[in-house]
Amino acid sequence: MLERSDIAENALQCLHDEDYDRPFNTQNLNADTLIFSGGRQGRSLDGEWYFCVDLLDTGLRQKWFAMTPARPEDRIEPWDYDPHDGETVPVPSNWQMLKEKWYFFEGSAWYTRPVTVDALDEGRRRFLRIGAAQYDCKVFVNGQFLGNHYGGSTPFCVELTEALEPGENWIMLCVNNTRTRDRVPMRNTDWFNYGGVYREVTLFETPATVIRELFLRLEGGAVKALVVADGPAESARLEIPELGVKTDIPLTEGRGEVTLEAQPALWSPDSPKLYDVTCAAGGDVVTDRVGFRTVERRGTEIFLNGKPLFLRGISVHEDDEQSGKVTSEADIRRRFEHARELGCNFLRLAHYPHHERAAEIADELGLLLWEEIPVYWAIDFANPATRRDATNQLTELVRRDRNRASVIIWSIGNENPDTDARLDFMQGLAATARAEDPTRLIAAACLINHAKLKIEDRLAGALDIIGINEYYGWYDENFDELAIIGRNSAPDRPVVISETGADGDHEKGPERGLFSTAYQSEVYEKQIATLSDLDYIKGISPWILYDFRVERRQNVFQRGWNRKGLIAADKQTRKPAFGLLAAHYAERASKEE
Ligand code: GCU
Repeated sequence: MLERSDIAENALQCLHDEDYDRPFNTQNLNADTLIFSGGRQGRSLDGEWYFCVDLLDTGLRQKWFAMTPARPEDRIEPWDYDPHDGETVPVPSNWQMLKEKWYFFEGSAWYTRPVTVDALDEGRRRFLRIGAAQYDCKVFVNGQFLGNHYGGSTPFCVELTEALEPGENWIMLCVNNTRTRDRVPMRNTDWFNYGGVYREVTLFETPATVIRELFLRLEGGAVKALVVADGPAESARLEIPELGVKTDIPLTEGRGEVTLEAQPALWSPDSPKLYDVTCAAGGDVVTDRVGFRTVERRGTEIFLNGKPLFLRGISVHEDDEQSGKVTSEADIRRRFEHARELGCNFLRLAHYPHHERAAEIADELGLLLWEEIPVYWAIDFANPATRRDATNQLTELVRRDRNRASVIIWSIGNENPDTDARLDFMQGLAATARAEDPTRLIAAACLINHAKLKIEDRLAGALDIIGINEYYGWYDENFDELAIIGRNSAPDRPVVISETGADGDHEKGPERGLFSTAYQSEVYEKQIATLSDLDYIKGISPWILYDFRVERRQNVFQRGWNRKGLIAADKQTRKPAFGLLAAHYAERASKEE
C-alpha cells in the first residue's frame, strides 16, 4: 500500500467536509493588531508572488498551505496545485485587470512568495502589514495559519515574530472577494467588485515595544496626544520641535494621554501647515506630519477654525481603466488637480477608505475630505458578525487617518433603508467613531423621505452632517419636488448634498436626452440653480469626478461603466458639465472672499 501522507489522507476526507473554512475565520487581524506605521522603514514585499485562482476553495480543503517545496520529480503523491511554482502576478494588483479570464472571477485566490530573513535579535519583533486586500485575507506562514482579516479597504497587520525562521520562509495569502449577505458591503454595489492584494505589503522589524497608536489633535483649545504602546515602556517621548514640545508621557498599561502647552499655527486649505512629530517608546520610534485645526458644527453651520465653511466638493471613487482599484501617487495627485480645476475645496472619498496617501497628500495641498466605510445600501443590520465587521473597518479607518487634518468627516454609511435595525446599527457606528475621535464630524449619505417630500431620517440625531443623495433630473423625475423638499425641510444641522448628477456618454451618447452629455449639463444647470436657494445646504459633492467601472450597467451607453463622471474614464476628456460646475464654484468662491 502506497504510504500516504497526512496531506493525501486529508485530500480524501476533505471531499465530505463543508465546514472546511471554519478554522480560518478567526478575524483576529483587526484594529487591535494594527501597528502605527508612520515613519517606519520597512522591507517591501511588493513584486511577483506565485498566484492561483481557487474557485472551489480547494486550497483550504486540501491544505495547500501545508505543502513543502519540492521538484515535481521528487513528489511521491499527486497534487492539484504547488504554491511554490507556476504563474506569478505583481503585488499590488487586482487580478481582474491582469487577465481577461479573471475579469469576473469571484472567489478565493492564493498569493505565495518566499521571504528570507536573518535570525531575529533577542527581544526584537516582526510584523507584516498589508495595505488592503479585498475582502477576506487569510495569512499562512510556513504552513501555519496565523489569522484572517475582513474588510476590503483598510490596512491590517500580523505579527510574524515567532513564525519566521532564519533563512527561507514561505508566506501564503488566501484572498476571497466573494459577495455575501453578511459582508460590508453586502452583495449589491454600484462599483466593481475588484479582488486581490491591491495595496502595499511591508515587513517591519521593531524592538520588543511597538507603538500601536499615536493620535494628535487640537481639542478644547489645546494640543492633545494619545500614545498606545505594546511592550515594556514606562513612558513615551513626544517631540514636536517647531512647537518646542519635548515631553514624556507616562504610560499605564501601555496607554498615555497628555495635554500640551503649545500654540500651533492652524492648518487650513489656504495655509496647510504641518508639523513634524516624533514619538518614541521602549526603543520604538515613529514619526508623522500633523496639521492642527478645528472643525465643528453649530446649528446648521460648519465651522473650520471658527470660520463658517461651505464645501465645494466632488465625489470620487478609487477606480482606473488600467489598474482597477490600485491607485498611485500620480493618480491621486491627478484626482486632486482635477478637483482643484473644478474649484473644489472638498472631496467625498466614496464609498470605502481610499489609499492612505490620499489624505496625506490632501494634508499637503489643503483639501478637505469626507472618508467613508462601505455600509452601503442593504446590509445585514441584524447580524452581530456584520456589526463587528463594520465596527472594525470603521475603527481601522479612524486609527489610520485621524492624524490627517484634511479629514474632517467620518461617514458611516450610504443610502441605507430607514429600519429599526439599521438605526441601532448605525447609531452604534456613530458612537464608535466619536469614541475613537471626538474631533471630527460624523455624517452619512441619507435618502430623502419621498413620501413626505422632506429631509427626514431618524439617523440624523446621531449625525453632525446630514448627507443627502438626490437625483432630481435623473432617477427622480419631477424636478419641482426638489424646491418643495427645500421648503418642507427645516433640518437643525448642516446638510451636504453628497450626491447628485446624471450619466453622459461623451463617446457614443445621443445628441440629446438621457445619456447625452447635453442632458447631463441640463441636470447640472437645474441642480445648481435649485440648490443655491437652499441656505441650510452647506456643501455639495456631485456624483462623480470620473466615469467608473461597474458590472451592473450594461446599456449601449454604459458598456460596463457608470457614466456620471464630469470627466470620462480616460481621466482626460472633460464633459461640458465640468465647466458648469467649475463656473458655479468660481462664483461661490468669489462671494466668500
Ligand atoms: C447612488 C449610489 C452611488 C451610485 C449612484 C448612481 O446614489 O450612492 O454609489 O453610483 O447613486 O446611481 O450612479
